[in-house]
Amino acid sequence: QERTFIAVKPDGVQRALVGEIIKRFEARGYKLVGLKMLVPSKALAEKHYADLRTKPFFKGLVEYMTNGKAPVVGMVWEGQDVIRQGRRMLGATNPLESDAGTIRGDFCISIGRNIIHGSDSYESALKEITLWFNENELADWQLANTEWINSAN
Ligand code: GTP
Ligand code: MG
Repeated sequence: QERTFIAVKPDGVQRALVGEIIKRFEARGYKLVGLKMLVPSKALAEKHYADLRTKPFFKGLVEYMTNGKAPVVGMVWEGQDVIRQGRRMLGATNPLESDAGTIRGDFCISIGRNIIHGSDSYESALKEITLWFNENELADWQLANTEWINSAN
């Protein structure tokens, strides 16, 4: 089954949106297999956002993720098409373009404080899950109602 890395950023934690975000993924039918709260190290944040290291906002982005004014809640969600669907549920990067009904479209207004991260491809999901979680921190369990969520074809 496909897995993605979703993180509530420090602003999302500070704004008390952790439960709301978990609720949306649970209610959709996805399975939570990893969950942790931490203040990431600078090295972790820099690796996580390595693709953006040349951007003018990179330093500020790393500082905001790591300054410890609030932790990050990292999660691994599993289920059918969860990488692409997760990105749809997040909404566009810039809240000015996020549709209403998406997490960003409903709860934030600024691109520099867009409350949530989601992996954007299979490759980045794999990279990010490995970066944020050890194998023994991922739960191997069956969602009992899975046949009511996924059809065989
Ligand atoms: P993530 O899920 O967090 O990776 O966002 P994304 O994939 O939708 O966008 P991208 O990977 O391009 O950018 C990562 C994060 O950098 C964004 O979510 C923003 O928090 C931040 N960011 C991107 N562009 C800007 C910008 O122009 N200004 C500022 N201040 N932050 C930006
Ligand atoms: Mg991204």
